[in-house]
Amino acid sequence: MKRYLMAPGPVAVDPHVMLVMAEPVIHHRSPQFSEILTRVREDLKYVYQTKNDIFIMASSGTGGMDASVSNMLSPGDKAICIIGGKFGERWAELCQTYGVETVNIDVEWGRAVDPGQVEDALSAHPDCKAVFVQAHETSTGVKHPVKELGEIVAKRDNTLLIVDAISAMGVYDLKTDEWGLDVVVSGSQKSFSLPPGLSMVSVSEKAWRFAEQAKCPRYYFNFLKERKALAKKTTAYTSAVSLIIGLGEVLKQFKAMGLDALFAHHRRLSEAVKTAVASMGLELFPKDASEAITVIKAPEGIDGTEVVKVLREEYGITIAGGQAHLKGKVFRISHYGYLSEWDMIIAIAAIERALNQLGHKVAFGSGVAAAEEYFANS
Ligand SMILES: Cc1ncc(COP(=O)(O)O)c(C=O)c1O
Repeated sequence: MKRYLMAPGPVAVDPHVMLVMAEPVIHHRSPQFSEILTRVREDLKYVYQTKNDIFIMASSGTGGMDASVSNMLSPGDKAICIIGGKFGERWAELCQTYGVETVNIDVEWGRAVDPGQVEDALSAHPDCKAVFVQAHETSTGVKHPVKELGEIVAKRDNTLLIVDAISAMGVYDLKTDEWGLDVVVSGSQKSFSLPPGLSMVSVSEKAWRFAEQAKCPRYYFNFLKERKALAKKTTAYTSAVSLIIGLGEVLKQFKAMGLDALFAHHRRLSEAVKTAVASMGLELFPKDASEAITVIKAPEGIDGTEVVKVLREEYGITIAGGQAHLKGKVFRISHYGYLSEWDMIIAIAAIERALNQLGHKVAFGSGVAAAEEYFANS
């Protein structure tokens, strides 16, 4: 069976990048690798739109989130967590794990946070040392307004804006420096189109002040140690050499393409799929839908988990289902990763077929025709 990976991470990897990563492993303390690491860090700054230091650590994205809490805060500190989905909940869980008291802003799943609410929470709790948010909440397919949050938080010397951009960095425009994003986390298995295993974190000048005072326990994820290693063109511990070499290859492609074209590509896939969803008589789950992924409501009487299962087991196509209380209620398709417009056509055709198979009538070709027309004319 031919397999397709179209979930919002891990994503399909370009076979050329896989081949580059299959080359013999080189030593992480060699001049050859130092040169690669230095170039990769510089190229990451291009995607992050930053001059800040960026660390590359061997972990999934959650490791970068964990590091962002433990390196910036101390037990007993207070922080605001914006919770509009599964990954917002993770910020609060991490804070609680480190003894950081949280002021939670609960946002309806499928909606973006209102920046005014964050401003009010900061006025009510001026001692909050950080605001934690997702640039893109992957469980609901919603973009939070990080630019506006950056403006609010930048006015406060004692508060950082810490952004989980795991499913946003490299997908759409995120101006780390211009928007005042102090700590920004990304992961290899999303837009960087690599296997899972790397988290990348940028740290602003303002954030370094916090890092120097933070007292949360930490060992592996230690930005101060990483900064010392960075000065020596290396990482504190053994670098994930093959993944970093793969990242270098992807970044080369991103630079050749240019950020605007990269973002336009994701937008194009997203718009085609969203147009197809409407033509199939289906509905989007989020009210504030992003271009990173499309989250589709399972039609009345259809279990979304079954749609995902039919696609994966009978058609060889992996998309993702809903998480937490959205389990069975939605299914999610990625627009980042090594995907083309033809992959989107395949995903739409498969959804048409699966829904019919499960007893929900959709006119064959209705979604496909809409997407084809969109692609042909855009
Ligand atoms: C927005 C967001 N945050 C955090 C994570 C967790 O990342 P990981 O599973 O790589 O630890 C994900 C993964 O789906 C995500 O999409």
